Amino acid sequence: MTLLTSLVAIVGVFVANAYPQPLDERAVTVSNAKTSLSLVYQNNLNSSDDKNHVGALILDATIGYQAAAACAALNERLFSKATLQEHKTDFTRLIAYQDFSNSFDTVGGFHIDGGTVVWDRQFVFSSQAGSSQKRLPVLCTQSATNGLSSAGPVNGSQVAIASGSNTFVGYRNQKSFRFLGIPYANLPQRWQYSSLYTKKDQTIQATAYGSQCAQGSSGSEDCLFLNIQTPHIPKAGSKKNLRPVLFWIHGGGFTGGNGADGLSDGGNLASREDLVVVTINYRLSTLGFLAIPGTDIKGNYGIADQITALDWVIANIASFGGDPRKITIMGESAGAGSVRTLLGSPKAIGKYQGAVAMSNLGGGVTIGLMGDYGTTYSSYYTIDQSYAVAGSQILSAAGCSNSSAQDISSQVSCLSQASASKLVSLSTVARYVVQDGTYVTTPNLVLTRQNANTAHIPVMFGVTRDDGASFSTYPKQPITTHSQGLQAGLGINSTWADKIIASGLFPSPNTGNLTLDSFNVSARIATDKTFRCIDQATVYAGATSGAFSSAYYYQMDRTINGYDPNNVGGPKDRDPNNAYFRLHGADMPWVFGTLSSPRNVDDLYSVQLSTALFGAFVRTGRPELDAELLEVRGYAKVIEALNKTGQWGEVDGKKGEIRVLDWPGKRAGFVDVEQCAWLGYGLDYYLKGGA
Ligand SMILES: *[C@@H]1O[C@H](CO)[C@@H](O)[C@H](O)[C@H]1NC(C)=O
Ligand SMILES: *[C@@H]1O[C@H](CO)[C@@H](O)[C@H](O)[C@H]1NC(C)=O
Ligand SMILES: *[C@@H]1O[C@H](CO)[C@@H](O)[C@H](O)[C@H]1NC(C)=O
Ligand SMILES: *[C@@H]1O[C@H](CO)[C@@H](O)[C@H](O)[C@H]1NC(C)=O
Ligand SMILES: *[C@@H]1O[C@H](CO)[C@@H](O)[C@H](O)[C@H]1NC(C)=O
Ligand SMILES: *[C@@H]1O[C@H](CO)[C@@H](O)[C@H](O)[C@H]1NC(C)=O
Ligand SMILES: *[C@@H]1O[C@H](CO)[C@@H](O)[C@H](O)[C@H]1NC(C)=O
Repeated sequence: MTLLTSLVAIVGVFVANAYPQPLDERAVTVSNAKTSLSLVYQNNLNSSDDKNHVGALILDATIGYQAAAACAALNERLFSKATLQEHKTDFTRLIAYQDFSNSFDTVGGFHIDGGTVVWDRQFVFSSQAGSSQKRLPVLCTQSATNGLSSAGPVNGSQVAIASGSNTFVGYRNQKSFRFLGIPYANLPQRWQYSSLYTKKDQTIQATAYGSQCAQGSSGSEDCLFLNIQTPHIPKAGSKKNLRPVLFWIHGGGFTGGNGADGLSDGGNLASREDLVVVTINYRLSTLGFLAIPGTDIKGNYGIADQITALDWVIANIASFGGDPRKITIMGESAGAGSVRTLLGSPKAIGKYQGAVAMSNLGGGVTIGLMGDYGTTYSSYYTIDQSYAVAGSQILSAAGCSNSSAQDISSQVSCLSQASASKLVSLSTVARYVVQDGTYVTTPNLVLTRQNANTAHIPVMFGVTRDDGASFSTYPKQPITTHSQGLQAGLGINSTWADKIIASGLFPSPNTGNLTLDSFNVSARIATDKTFRCIDQATVYAGATSGAFSSAYYYQMDRTINGYDPNNVGGPKDRDPNNAYFRLHGADMPWVFGTLSSPRNVDDLYSVQLSTALFGAFVRTGRPELDAELLEVRGYAKVIEALNKTGQWGEVDGKKGEIRVLDWPGKRAGFVDVEQCAWLGYGLDYYLKGGA
């Protein structure tokens, strides 16, 4: 059915006769045994407005006199007419969307408290006799209104479902059903690849996050957990109405982070974009990435964990409402590096259908200008190279490579005795993806042709405008020349600083604050050399050669906070119309709809727009907005942006295009093309065989 037209035609119905009292069916343990469960919530992503909205649970069609019992089994009640009237705008949209998405047959209406409701756009009620005998979907209250930050379930909100031969007890809050801390792998052995969780007949309490993987002074080796937020749980045994899946791989330099970060909480995307969100932990640092030549320790344990998590998702996610044939892998920073790695991993290709790499790092290979922290995220060491920069240092820092331990196996067995927290806290840790021959088989992602080594799927890459501001150095002392600023900012000598200035390609702004202006130029160069050039060249090559089936590119021009080692100040307390650096990692709230304190209305509108674009990519492989869908959902500001800017087009040739994400944003061409060529990373870098 299209749009609201079918609903408009419906005659409103309201039945006033009382039904028999609820049957006592509270003893049901598996709450999707008799019905699917849909949690609907009209989410405008304005968290301070959540208190003014209520959601509902929709259950499968049942005979009217059984409807109250069906709600009671979930510790809820039939929805009241008064509450519907109070929230009629929300519910008109929510129900219209159920119709539009073919999730429920809405024509006959829904059972509510004391009767049946059917509405048209004007939300007109009228009565109809005898509908207690009708089979109609049921609208129940959804009283678990705790938000994202809540530590766990409120009483009565638990929901138990079966998948495989295990039962998972999760819960619901205002935004979605949540299953947290699900073990996806057996307890991993140190420096062995993880295997899919095999325990059977378990009841898994999935109401709290599992441990993060060992990092700094916290975390543990028992950390291979994933978390699910979903708007819909199919009836046990059914695979109907499955939603696309966003599979999130966190960042943190391959040494930190976890899937429990509030910024990547999937509850808002679940309700706003009707997606299933999965966030995972994977092993980090020396526990995740140690590689030692001549031993069985071949590295990439963290990458292999990600693939094990994908395997778990493929096997189980349908039980949680997700479509295992529609998985988009997405990550930021080291998570984007992971996505890039998985795009070329024979063990992973075929297990996902779309990929998004946010602020992937690279660079530093050809230009003599400066070494680059980002190189190893896109160009993979051999095991020997990794050992040369990390392995031998780790052995000696752990006290395992003294003269009485010449042979490598005794050194390794010494290292195995060290505690996890000691290993991840040594002065050197392993954090490099390596060419292990199984998970990673090429030195780089192959972008020159359609080929078996690269997933032939739609991809999206992009950066924050000033990603590199987080990876350059604000001069410790005020400077007196621009050259001094560049030397400090980029860690280069005067020869190179002067070459940069002489190129005329990186003019300095002139605000009267030389130190700040010079840092601004350092940040631009750092953004270009470590992020922008390599990522633009990647999508250009992959789209031009046909390695990817399609490619999209963005630049995030509106952000908040982010990774700020220089303390150049997030825009937190500022007017976003002032100049500020769009730092690395500062785009997360725009992708997950988790911006807690919009600074102005444009912040909120831009978040609504970004989630719509990323949501569309997860649904269809194209970040194209569907005006009809947006109309049904009542996402007026997103429609307005679409009207103003048009659709986000594929990368097609040297002009891009790219999408500048802001409110309302704009379409543009590739950025700093000439600068990138000068830095050694022109658009055709990969097509010319660069790596
Ligand atoms: C939840 O239930 C427990 C046990 O019945 C009770 O002690 C507690 O106060 C309840 N909490 C809330 C928030 O209702
Ligand atoms: C020397 O290395 C061996 C490992 O083979 C280890 O058991 C021993 O503790 C080390 N000795 C010192 C003094 O670090
Ligand atoms: C400046 O750095 C470059 C690249 O590291 C090096 O080749 C050159 O010798 C250095 N020049 C001076 C004057 O130190
Ligand atoms: C230059 O800008 C920086 C960053 O905003 C600020 O900390 C510093 O005080 C400014 N210096 C001057 C001389 O205004
Ligand atoms: C950096 O300079 C550019 C102009 O070159 C300006 O548009 C931008 O606002 C500046 N960024 C900051 C944080 O001052
Ligand atoms: C967010 O919601 C609050 C509370 O309803 C409201 O005062 C505020 O105007 C909303 N913000 C925007 C940008 O709509
Ligand atoms: C978008 O454009 C359509 C067609 O021109 C128009 O009917 C609609 O009112 C516009 N909507 C918004 C929100 O600007």
